[in-house]
This record gives sequence, structure tokens and C-alpha cells, in this order.
Amino acid sequence: VMTPGLVDCHTHLVFGGARADEFEARLEGASYEEIARRGGGILSTVLATREASEQTLFNAALPRLKALVEEGVTTVEIKSGYGLDVANELKMLRVARRLGEELPVHVLTTLLGAHALPPEYENDSDGYIELVCNEMIPAAAAEGLADAVDVFCEKIAFSVAQCERVFKAAQAHGLPIKAHAEQLSNLGGAAMAARHCALSADHIEYLDDAGIAAMREAGSVAVILPGAFHTLRETQQPPIAGLREAGVPMAVATDANPGSSPIFMPTLMLNLACTLFRMTPQEALAGMTANGAAALGLKGQGQLHEGAVADLCVWDIETPAELAYAVQPGRLRQRVYQGELTHGR
Ligand code: NIG
Ligand code: FE
Repeated sequence: VMTPGLVDCHTHLVFGGARADEFEARLEGASYEEIARRGGGILSTVLATREASEQTLFNAALPRLKALVEEGVTTVEIKSGYGLDVANELKMLRVARRLGEELPVHVLTTLLGAHALPPEYENDSDGYIELVCNEMIPAAAAEGLADAVDVFCEKIAFSVAQCERVFKAAQAHGLPIKAHAEQLSNLGGAAMAARHCALSADHIEYLDDAGIAAMREAGSVAVILPGAFHTLRETQQPPIAGLREAGVPMAVATDANPGSSPIFMPTLMLNLACTLFRMTPQEALAGMTANGAAALGLKGQGQLHEGAVADLCVWDIETPAELAYAVQPGRLRQRVYQGELTHGR
């Protein structure tokens, strides 16, 4: 079976440290939210990422990206969001750009400065949002380091109004926007993002009908992240049937990151999207090809047709549905990147 090269449109592949301790704490009953509130979670990765040199971060991220590439990914998005100050956010984005120069894969970078509140801004989240808007976004734009701007709109992160400020600053610098929204609660972040013509709203387990309507209106892609749902043992399902009925395009991505989705296996996400959320294998595959591309502003890519970009995978399977059906690494027979064979013969 030949498919387009896989598009993983939502990852946090660049980070310092690891969070197995937090994984254990959650198994003992602590929630993702509680861990975040006591200064663990994203903030523990921020400390490790700030301490790491650019080279250390690069060396750590390279095998993670290799794992994706060896499973057929030809386009990947990589977010910052563990630096949370200008220098460290730019450091992360530089590492992401370098990764794309090292391996045969298109890397798109996303500035996620509004991911969490850094300790030095405790009790001043508006002050931090000002830093993101007035310094981080302009610096990333000036250096050409960001292809998009993302936010984490959530009670443990930033409010809808704060995220809206970030979006306005991004758009003033000509950068497209996207949002982590409605993951742990329904704040209306996805609808606000859609009103600003966001490329995508991601997670969206708590998305309601008004959010679906706003996304349909704006043409925003719904990025479904079953790895985080699985890892955090969540129970609130994203509204797949409603999205399907409304015709909102659905993407599927790994969300590969050290906390909520330490999973570096794209085809497992196809499987989880089907088993956990009852997406069809065809929807899941479209989610990691054409709709993943659309979530990155690459409309028309991630498809097989004459004249399309020759990023292709040939798999040792008989039908496309098998890609989602079996959890089995090693089925990629050939990988073609930009018309060149980069795997197999
Ligand atoms: O997509 N939701 C927020 N951000 C990431 C998790 C980051 C982390 O836990 O380190 C996510 O799930
Ligand atoms: Fe994420």
C-alpha cells in the first residue's frame, strides 16, 4: 500500500529531562492538573530545558525525530514552550530548525510561549503575556524562527482573553495561529481561536456544539490527540461524531512530549484514534496526511495525486486500514522524501 508521507502536525519533540516520576505519581492517584499546580508537570520540563545547551537539546531530540521518520513521517511540526523566556524559547526553535536540516523531513516550528506561567512571573500572568506579545513573538518573527504561534488555553495555563492577545500579536507579525484548547475543561478557547481564523484547535475533548460550529465556519482543523487522552487516562471523549457531522476536518497527531504523551509512534496514534474515539481507519489516515497538512497551513499537501509533492510511503500491508488495525513497527518498506528514496530500496 502506498500512502502520502505521514504528517505529524502537533509535537513537542524538543525538551530537557524526563517525567517518569510524574507518570508514577499519576498512577498513585495524582491528576495532571494537581501535578501542574504544585510546580511539577510542564514547569519541571522548563527547568531541565533551560539548563540544557542547544547541543544537548539537539542530541536528545534527534533520536525522537528519527523514530518518527523511520515510521513514515515526512512532515512534522515541533513546538517550543519549555523555555518560557525569550532566549530559551528561541533556543528551542533553533534546535527544531536544525533537526530539519539534519534529517530528511520537513520541520515546521511553532512558538508556544504561552504554554505555562514561568516561576519568575508568579502572580503576574498578564505581565508574562505582555512579554510573549511584545518581545517573544517579535524576536521569533524577526529571526524567522516560527512558522506559527500556539497557546495553551486552560485553567492551569492562560485565559481566553490572554490567548486572544497572543493571537493579535502573532497576526500583527503575519504568523498563523493555533490553540491547545478544551483539553481539561470547556473555556471556549477553540471558538475564540476560530474567530481569529486559527489553523487548528487541538485536544478539544470538552469542545461543545458552539465550538464545533465556530470551527466549521472558520475552516479550522480539529487536531485529535489520542496519546494525551490515553496517557492521562482521561474519560471525556472529543466530539468526533459532531465534528464528522459538521464536516470539520479532523487531524491526528502524536503530541509527542515528556508529560502528557511520551509516545513517539505515529501509527499507534492511528490505532488509538480508532479504538479510543471510534474514528474510522480512513479518517485516522486522512488525519495524519491531508488533514494534518491542513492543520499546518499546507492545504493540498499530504495527498497522492499527479503534481503533488513526492513525499510517499510504501507499507508492507494489504489494505490501508491495516495501518491503524495492527500496532506493529517495521512495516515501512520504502519512504520517498521530495522524490528521493530515503528508506528501503
Ligand atoms: O499538548 N496541554 C499542554 N501541553 C502539552 C503537554 C505538555 C507537557 O505536559 O509537558 C500537551 O498535552
Ligand atoms: Fe501539545
